[in-house]
Amino acid sequence: MKWTEKGFSLEKLNKYGTLFTVGNGALGVRGVFEEDYPEQVRGMFRAGIYNTPAGSTSAELVNLPDVTRCKITLDGNVFSMQNENITQFELFLNVKTGEFVRRLEWRSPQNRRYVLEFRRFASKKVQSLMAAKISVTPLSGDMEMKVETGIDGQQTNFGTQQLVELEARVFGANQMFAHYQTTESKQNVAILTTLSADAVFYAKNRQLTGELSFICKKNETVIFEKMTYVITSLDHETPAGAILLLPNENYEAVLKQSIQKWDDFWNQAGIQIESQNEMDQKLVSFALYHLEIMSPKKDSRLSIGAKGLTGEGYKGHVFWDTEIFLLPFILHHSPEEAKNLLLYRFHNLEGAEKKARDNGYKGALFPWESAFSGDEETPEFAAINIKTGKRQKVASALAEHHIVADIAYAVMQYFNATNDATFMKQYGAKLLRMTAEFWLSRAERLGEKWVIRDVIGPDEYTEHIDNNAYTNYMAHYNVAVAAKWNADFAPSCAEFLEKLYLPKPNENGIIPQDDTFLSKPVISLEKYKKEQGKQGVLLDYARSEVNEMQILKQADVVMLMYLFPALFDADIMKKNLVFYETRTIHDSSLSKAIHAIIANWCNEKALSYRFFEEACRIDFGDAPHTSDDGIHAASLGAIWLMVINGFAGVTVTQKGLELNPQLPDKWEKVQFNFVYLGETLHFTLTKRDISIRKSSDTPIHFNIFGKKYIVEKEIHVNLEEVPL
Ligand code: BGC
Repeated sequence: MKWTEKGFSLEKLNKYGTLFTVGNGALGVRGVFEEDYPEQVRGMFRAGIYNTPAGSTSAELVNLPDVTRCKITLDGNVFSMQNENITQFELFLNVKTGEFVRRLEWRSPQNRRYVLEFRRFASKKVQSLMAAKISVTPLSGDMEMKVETGIDGQQTNFGTQQLVELEARVFGANQMFAHYQTTESKQNVAILTTLSADAVFYAKNRQLTGELSFICKKNETVIFEKMTYVITSLDHETPAGAILLLPNENYEAVLKQSIQKWDDFWNQAGIQIESQNEMDQKLVSFALYHLEIMSPKKDSRLSIGAKGLTGEGYKGHVFWDTEIFLLPFILHHSPEEAKNLLLYRFHNLEGAEKKARDNGYKGALFPWESAFSGDEETPEFAAINIKTGKRQKVASALAEHHIVADIAYAVMQYFNATNDATFMKQYGAKLLRMTAEFWLSRAERLGEKWVIRDVIGPDEYTEHIDNNAYTNYMAHYNVAVAAKWNADFAPSCAEFLEKLYLPKPNENGIIPQDDTFLSKPVISLEKYKKEQGKQGVLLDYARSEVNEMQILKQADVVMLMYLFPALFDADIMKKNLVFYETRTIHDSSLSKAIHAIIANWCNEKALSYRFFEEACRIDFGDAPHTSDDGIHAASLGAIWLMVINGFAGVTVTQKGLELNPQLPDKWEKVQFNFVYLGETLHFTLTKRDISIRKSSDTPIHFNIFGKKYIVEKEIHVNLEEVPL
């Protein structure tokens, strides 16, 4: 399975850089080209290595020193793809093997022809190892080739230098070593690069470079490898010492080991789709690849940033994206990894309690954006509005409190899918209780009701409103499950649970998004919907004006219906889907996919499939620049949600597994594994039947279109026999 780009476009350099990132959950290396182009942004990231630069209040995922750059000089000419001098261009990421490959034929200004091949991957076996291999074949005559490459400490985060160079040295004729420390967080990063041929070294201005020379006969091939280890203080107390003990490796051997790990992943987490549109399979597999390379393995100090490890966007910060959009995929193929994501929140309870206290609340108020410490990292100001020249305040840290309940919701998702009572006893119940205590202090009595005022719901274009439906329902759920898991706490929750105002559908069947939303004027959003994702409405109107209109950035009530399908019947879902979608620009990448799921649940199959395709195009469409500063992690998680929760109709509730499949017209079959209650269920769904195979004999109960079934080892259901 390959994701291929034909034709080279300078316009898309940074989009390729993001899409073709190689990684393993710890390291992420952007799919940049070895040679330099002024607009190309290089990037290598290590999950958890953040730094708060001087003058800023917000930690940034550090863009580490670069090891990808190679200046290649062939018979005196510096190789570059500009000037339309390449043919046979092929650029692809092999998602099955995790290898990024570029092949091309280059014609020099003297009309000499060369075939070049560049390959790169991050080892899935050894998480600190990144490997690169370059092959060059001269076609027009014998060749003299020079390569300059090394460790480049001039790399910055959008211009900000995050590291102090502690040491830089070489060993023998082919090894370079550099050791850095982040300026504020004091994390150490050691890098060791081994070249497959002897070099002449020089060091200047934080750049350690090796220069290699080759002579090669016509039609023969020069092969050159560069193996790089990155060890940080997250891996070892003394990274510099540890890195020097690591073995020399060769590209093909390490690739082989890494592919074995990728095979394991695909066997467990792959989805097979038979569709008339062959892109569907590709898009889904590409999304799964990215989900896998962004997910930390075995390290509960880490979570997942909104751009994974693919770019500097959102400074590598962690949002509700992780719990609501990414965790379900991880939970149903690797529950241990999902548990670690929840432990990340548990370890950071202290910061959340502090944030609650500082704001006059009790319990735990988790930060809207977090990094390594769990402190609030949301920048105070967003980008300058270039029309007014003013900076807009970011209100999310002050009022986007639904993240607290999103985390509690994820704890329950984890428990419902695993029955892990030990986790609940040690961590889950406390997370539920601390988050619930926040809501008890956050809500206010208003006459007979309890209300939650001055919040921002998922729709960030509507700020500081009262009784956002999403927030209130989620808070109610949060407190209800906390009461269930903490018997001594239950009496304190009773009044809140009884009296918290939960907006119900009005006479037209519409659930008010908040107390005032429905009384605001409506404007045509045609212009902005055409350019969705670009937030153009904020150029035409100030945020305060957008706030006073019925304009949604992303799914809000629709999001609520997605998380609590049992509370809303199909008629209400459909009315709200239509009503709110008309008013939604989908400027957030978290929006379309959730609409696709609700549309499918309302039997709007064509609409659902259209949303599915559009949601997949957010990163994988043709438009240049859409993903320049990183992939939209949550939107990729939502591709899995669309397939599993949406089309396959698999959902897990407290009562068990529900199955309401509704495949798109173009799909003949979908097959996938789903880990549930400690075992792997293998699903095969067509429009006519459902087969489920289990790995053990322990009976599992579930409902197919509301009818109860028990599966022991295997079950085959003919859908024509199930009353709908
Ligand atoms: C969305 C948030 C999301 C964040 C990070 C924002 O544009 O409105 O819901 O958490 O991006 O993906």
